Amino acid sequence: MIREVVVTTRAPDGRIHIAPMGLHEADGWTVLAPFRPSATLENVLAGRCAVVNYCDDVRVFAGCLTGRRDWPTLPAQRVAGVRLAGALAHAELELERIEDDAQRPRLLCRVVHEANHSPFRGFNRAQAAVIEAAILTSRLHLLPADKIDAELRYLTIAVDKTAGPAEREAWEWLMARIAQHRAGKEAAA
Ligand SMILES: Cc1cc2nc3c(=O)[nH]c(=O)nc-3n(C[C@H](O)[C@H](O)[C@H](O)COP(=O)(O)O)c2cc1C
Repeated sequence: MIREVVVTTRAPDGRIHIAPMGLHEADGWTVLAPFRPSATLENVLAGRCAVVNYCDDVRVFAGCLTGRRDWPTLPAQRVAGVRLAGALAHAELELERIEDDAQRPRLLCRVVHEANHSPFRGFNRAQAAVIEAAILTSRLHLLPADKIDAELRYLTIAVDKTAGPAEREAWEWLMARIAQHRAGKEAAA
Protein backbone atom coordinates (compact mmCIF):
# COMPACT_ATOMS: atom_id res chain seq x y z
CA MET A 1 0.00 0.00 0.00
CA ILE A 2 1.29 3.43 -0.91
CA ARG A 3 -0.29 6.65 0.41
CA GLU A 4 0.45 10.05 -1.08
CA VAL A 5 1.39 12.32 1.80
CA VAL A 6 3.31 15.50 2.53
CA VAL A 7 6.60 14.99 4.38
CA THR A 8 8.01 17.76 6.54
CA THR A 9 11.67 17.64 7.56
CA ARG A 10 14.14 19.99 9.18
CA ALA A 11 17.64 20.67 7.82
CA PRO A 12 20.59 20.83 10.23
CA ASP A 13 20.49 24.66 9.95
CA GLY A 14 16.83 24.61 11.11
CA ARG A 15 15.20 25.28 7.73
CA ILE A 16 11.90 23.47 7.18
CA HIS A 17 11.48 21.43 4.00
CA ILE A 18 8.08 20.35 2.68
CA ALA A 19 7.70 17.73 -0.09
CA PRO A 20 4.99 15.38 -1.37
CA MET A 21 6.08 11.74 -1.18
CA GLY A 22 4.65 8.25 -1.45
CA LEU A 23 4.54 6.54 1.95
CA HIS A 24 4.97 2.76 1.71
CA GLU A 25 3.73 0.38 4.38
CA ALA A 26 5.73 -2.86 4.25
CA ASP A 27 6.42 -5.62 6.82
CA GLY A 28 5.45 -3.39 9.73
CA TRP A 29 7.71 -0.57 8.57
CA THR A 30 6.71 2.89 7.43
CA VAL A 31 8.96 3.52 4.46
CA LEU A 32 9.98 6.67 2.60
CA ALA A 33 11.70 6.21 -0.76
CA PRO A 34 13.12 9.50 -2.06
CA PHE A 35 14.91 9.60 -5.42
CA ARG A 36 18.40 11.07 -5.21
CA PRO A 37 19.12 13.97 -5.08
CA SER A 38 16.59 14.89 -2.41
CA ALA A 39 16.52 17.47 0.37
CA THR A 40 14.08 15.20 2.23
CA LEU A 41 16.61 12.36 2.08
CA GLU A 42 19.47 14.55 3.33
CA ASN A 43 17.34 15.94 6.17
CA VAL A 44 16.11 12.50 7.33
CA LEU A 45 19.65 11.11 7.24
CA ALA A 46 20.92 14.06 9.26
CA GLY A 47 18.07 14.33 11.78
CA ARG A 48 16.91 10.69 11.77
CA CYS A 49 13.26 11.75 11.80
CA ALA A 50 10.45 13.05 9.62
CA VAL A 51 6.81 14.06 9.94
CA VAL A 52 4.16 12.60 7.66
CA ASN A 53 1.15 14.84 7.02
CA TYR A 54 -2.18 13.38 5.88
CA CYS A 55 -3.54 16.36 4.04
CA ASP A 56 -6.58 16.92 1.80
CA ASP A 57 -5.57 20.46 0.82
CA VAL A 58 -4.17 19.53 -2.58
CA ARG A 59 -2.76 23.04 -2.98
CA VAL A 60 0.13 21.86 -0.78
CA PHE A 61 0.93 19.05 -3.24
CA ALA A 62 0.56 21.28 -6.31
CA GLY A 63 2.24 24.19 -4.55
CA CYS A 64 5.39 22.25 -3.67
CA LEU A 65 5.81 21.39 -7.36
CA THR A 66 5.27 24.96 -8.52
CA GLY A 67 7.53 26.90 -6.17
CA ARG A 68 4.99 27.45 -3.38
CA ARG A 69 6.61 25.62 -0.48
CA ASP A 70 5.85 28.04 2.31
CA TRP A 71 2.89 26.44 4.12
CA PRO A 72 1.96 27.15 7.77
CA THR A 73 3.43 24.65 10.25
CA LEU A 74 3.23 23.85 13.96
CA PRO A 75 5.82 22.13 16.18
CA ALA A 76 5.84 18.32 16.29
CA GLN A 77 5.38 16.60 19.67
CA ARG A 78 8.03 13.86 19.81
CA VAL A 79 10.56 14.62 17.06
CA ALA A 80 12.59 17.69 16.16
CA GLY A 81 10.36 18.89 13.37
CA VAL A 82 7.05 20.40 12.39
CA ARG A 83 3.70 19.30 11.03
CA LEU A 84 1.50 21.12 8.54
CA ALA A 85 -1.04 23.31 10.36
CA GLY A 86 -3.64 22.22 7.78
CA ALA A 87 -3.05 18.45 8.09
CA LEU A 88 -6.08 16.28 8.91
CA ALA A 89 -3.71 14.05 10.87
CA HIS A 90 0.00 13.53 11.18
CA ALA A 91 2.51 10.87 12.19
CA GLU A 92 5.98 11.48 13.59
CA LEU A 93 8.64 9.05 12.37
CA GLU A 94 12.04 8.01 13.63
CA LEU A 95 14.50 6.53 11.16
CA GLU A 96 15.61 3.03 12.19
CA ARG A 97 17.15 1.45 9.09
CA ILE A 98 18.44 2.48 5.69
CA GLU A 99 18.38 0.28 2.61
CA ASP A 100 20.85 2.25 0.54
CA ASP A 101 20.61 2.55 -3.21
CA ALA A 102 22.37 4.79 -5.73
CA GLN A 103 19.05 5.94 -7.20
CA ARG A 104 16.32 5.43 -4.58
CA PRO A 105 17.27 4.49 -1.00
CA ARG A 106 14.55 3.20 1.30
CA LEU A 107 14.23 4.80 4.74
CA LEU A 108 12.63 2.34 7.16
CA CYS A 109 10.93 4.25 9.98
CA ARG A 110 8.82 3.67 13.08
CA VAL A 111 5.86 5.81 14.05
CA VAL A 112 6.56 7.32 17.49
CA HIS A 113 3.54 9.65 17.70
CA GLU A 114 0.28 10.12 15.80
CA ALA A 115 -2.52 12.67 16.16
CA ASN A 116 -5.79 13.56 14.44
CA HIS A 117 -6.72 17.19 13.90
CA SER A 118 -9.77 17.31 11.58
CA PRO A 119 -12.26 14.75 10.29
CA PHE A 120 -11.86 13.07 6.91
CA ARG A 121 -14.88 14.25 4.91
CA GLY A 122 -14.90 11.70 2.10
CA PHE A 123 -13.25 11.19 -1.25
CA ASN A 124 -13.25 13.97 -3.81
CA ARG A 125 -12.44 13.08 -7.41
CA ALA A 126 -10.90 16.46 -8.20
CA GLN A 127 -8.45 16.03 -5.32
CA ALA A 128 -7.40 12.66 -6.74
CA ALA A 129 -7.08 14.27 -10.19
CA VAL A 130 -4.84 17.02 -8.80
CA ILE A 131 -2.60 14.40 -7.14
CA GLU A 132 -2.32 12.53 -10.46
CA ALA A 133 -1.56 15.76 -12.32
CA ALA A 134 1.03 16.67 -9.66
CA ILE A 135 2.77 13.34 -10.24
CA LEU A 136 2.72 13.98 -14.00
CA THR A 137 4.16 17.44 -13.36
CA SER A 138 6.99 15.95 -11.29
CA ARG A 139 7.85 13.72 -14.29
CA LEU A 140 7.60 16.22 -17.15
CA HIS A 141 11.23 15.55 -18.11
CA LEU A 142 10.54 11.80 -18.38
CA LEU A 143 7.11 11.49 -20.04
CA PRO A 144 6.12 12.05 -23.70
CA ALA A 145 3.86 15.08 -24.28
CA ASP A 146 1.06 13.03 -25.88
CA LYS A 147 0.83 10.73 -22.83
CA ILE A 148 0.59 13.76 -20.54
CA ASP A 149 -2.11 15.32 -22.77
CA ALA A 150 -4.17 12.10 -22.83
CA GLU A 151 -4.03 11.76 -19.04
CA LEU A 152 -4.85 15.44 -18.46
CA ARG A 153 -7.88 15.20 -20.78
CA TYR A 154 -9.29 12.43 -18.60
CA LEU A 155 -8.38 14.09 -15.29
CA THR A 156 -10.02 17.35 -16.40
CA ILE A 157 -13.44 15.65 -16.32
CA ALA A 158 -13.22 15.08 -12.56
CA VAL A 159 -11.93 18.61 -11.97
CA ASP A 160 -14.74 20.17 -14.01
CA LYS A 161 -17.39 18.10 -12.27
CA THR A 162 -16.28 17.98 -8.64
CA ALA A 163 -13.64 20.64 -7.76
CA GLY A 164 -14.02 23.32 -5.11
CA PRO A 165 -11.98 26.55 -5.16
CA ALA A 166 -8.86 24.98 -3.60
CA GLU A 167 -8.78 22.13 -6.11
CA ARG A 168 -9.29 24.57 -9.02
CA GLU A 169 -6.46 26.78 -7.80
CA ALA A 170 -4.13 23.77 -7.42
CA TRP A 171 -5.09 22.54 -10.89
CA GLU A 172 -4.37 25.96 -12.42
CA TRP A 173 -0.92 26.09 -10.80
CA LEU A 174 -0.07 22.71 -12.32
CA MET A 175 -1.42 23.59 -15.78
CA ALA A 176 0.61 26.81 -15.74
CA ARG A 177 3.74 24.83 -14.77
CA ILE A 178 3.20 22.34 -17.61
CA ALA A 179 2.67 25.19 -20.11
CA GLN A 180 5.83 26.89 -18.83
CA HIS A 181 7.82 23.67 -19.27
CA ARG A 182 6.58 23.32 -22.85
CA ALA A 183 7.29 26.97 -23.69
CA GLY A 184 10.84 26.50 -22.39
CA LYS A 185 11.34 23.42 -24.56
CA GLU A 186 10.03 25.22 -27.65
CA ALA A 187 12.29 28.20 -27.02
CA ALA A 188 15.28 25.85 -26.69
CA ALA A 189 14.41 23.94 -29.90
C1 LIG B 1 1.90 12.72 -5.02
C2 LIG B 1 3.39 12.77 -5.18
C3 LIG B 1 4.17 11.73 -4.71
C4 LIG B 1 5.57 11.77 -4.83
N1 LIG B 1 6.32 10.75 -4.34
C5 LIG B 1 7.66 10.80 -4.41
C6 LIG B 1 8.45 9.77 -3.85
O1 LIG B 1 7.95 8.78 -3.31
N2 LIG B 1 9.80 9.90 -3.93
C7 LIG B 1 10.38 11.00 -4.53
O2 LIG B 1 11.60 11.09 -4.56
N3 LIG B 1 9.65 11.99 -5.06
C8 LIG B 1 8.31 11.91 -5.01
N4 LIG B 1 7.56 12.92 -5.56
C9 LIG B 1 8.23 14.09 -6.17
C10 LIG B 1 8.78 14.97 -5.09
O3 LIG B 1 7.77 15.56 -4.30
C11 LIG B 1 9.64 16.10 -5.64
O4 LIG B 1 10.50 15.63 -6.63
C12 LIG B 1 10.41 16.68 -4.53
O5 LIG B 1 11.05 17.82 -4.95
C13 LIG B 1 11.35 15.67 -3.88
O6 LIG B 1 12.62 16.15 -3.70
P1 LIG B 1 13.07 16.91 -2.36
O7 LIG B 1 13.09 15.93 -1.24
O8 LIG B 1 14.42 17.45 -2.73
O9 LIG B 1 12.05 18.01 -2.17
C14 LIG B 1 6.17 12.88 -5.46
C15 LIG B 1 5.38 13.94 -5.93
C16 LIG B 1 4.00 13.88 -5.81
C17 LIG B 1 3.17 15.01 -6.32
